[in-house]
Amino acid sequence: AFTVEARRSGKTVTVGAGQSIAEALEAAGVAVALSCEEGVCGTCMTRVLAGVPDHRDLYLSAAERASNEAIMICCSRACSPTLSLDI
Ligand code: FES
Repeated sequence: AFTVEARRSGKTVTVGAGQSIAEALEAAGVAVALSCEEGVCGTCMTRVLAGVPDHRDLYLSAAERASNEAIMICCSRACSPTLSLDI
């Protein structure tokens, strides 16, 4: 599990092994935009403010992944214990 801080919403959630970041945020009442939920469409792209994403999507380019500026919250996870997101 890892922690996601939704800075704009002022909420912090724990993301367990069996759920996505988007699911954990939704359960806490944070509005998330989703479409494919498979990491291909880009709808759920969210700005990363701090922390290191574990990119599992097929949408971002290699350069975008390396920059760690955005994450697809429907499928990607965290390499760092905490991720701070602009949501
Ligand atoms: Fe399509 Fe996340 S909902 S990439």
